[in-house]
Amino acid sequence: MENDKINPQQLVDEFKDIPPMPNVMVRALEVIKNPQTGIKELANIMSVDQSILTKTLSLVNSAYYGFHQQITSLNKALVILGMMKAKNIIMSLALKQMMTTQGSRELWEHSAKCAIAAEMLAQEYKVINPDDAFVIGFLHDVGKILLNTKNPIKYSKARYLAQQNQVDLCEVEDSFFGTNHCVLGALVSKKWQLPVILTNCIRCHHNPVQSSLPSACALVYVADRLVQTRIPTPFFEQSILDKLDIQINDPMALRENALSKASIFLKEMSGTV
Ligand SMILES: [Fe+2]
Ligand SMILES: [Fe+2]
Repeated sequence: MENDKINPQQLVDEFKDIPPMPNVMVRALEVIKNPQTGIKELANIMSVDQSILTKTLSLVNSAYYGFHQQITSLNKALVILGMMKAKNIIMSLALKQMMTTQGSRELWEHSAKCAIAAEMLAQEYKVINPDDAFVIGFLHDVGKILLNTKNPIKYSKARYLAQQNQVDLCEVEDSFFGTNHCVLGALVSKKWQLPVILTNCIRCHHNPVQSSLPSACALVYVADRLVQTRIPTPFFEQSILDKLDIQINDPMALRENALSKASIFLKEMSGTV
């Protein structure tokens, strides 16, 4: 297995199939960063892509947001949603294509569920901004794409072994590839020039105690475990919850809430991107 070990930085550099960042996401982030531009510019970006346009409108009109009025124009949708939520929809759709083609449908669905759970936890516990929590939740496992693309058969074996033996996936990845999805995901985040908080949370989401931003990171850790239904009752390390400074009193109710919201989101986002 020694020969199969990969230098993580080299793996990211070698990764030719993933563009630095989906183009529409780059443009959306530029609009958000520039205070001179506004909703109109964001609407222009979204209007170019018919799929983004229709899916945004259908999500805005769904029970996911629960607005009481019918919203038929993109401009109106953006005013009601606000720039950050609109940006997150663009990001979700841009990542959907990348995640389903180079990762798996399961990865895309898990990422969306974790994003929604992280957003809900952030709203409740006010640890970080809920819109940022959504992005971090969405991208926490992005490193899996690199391992899957490098060697899909070997990677599915690693995942199977981790599940069967109930070992942390990162440990198995380390022994198979000499690196893991947390390290690789953080490198992708750096390459995409995403904020430090994001890189940090991606790097430490399996072990938030090691993070220099433990409470943000612990929130993603909780969200990640909350939505994994193969863990029959969500279980969290007490030392990690202490970092977050919260008590999860009813994890099953939280799980149910997050998953029912996620199922509406995934339904509205389904179909060809
Ligand atoms: Fe993970
Ligand atoms: Fe995960």
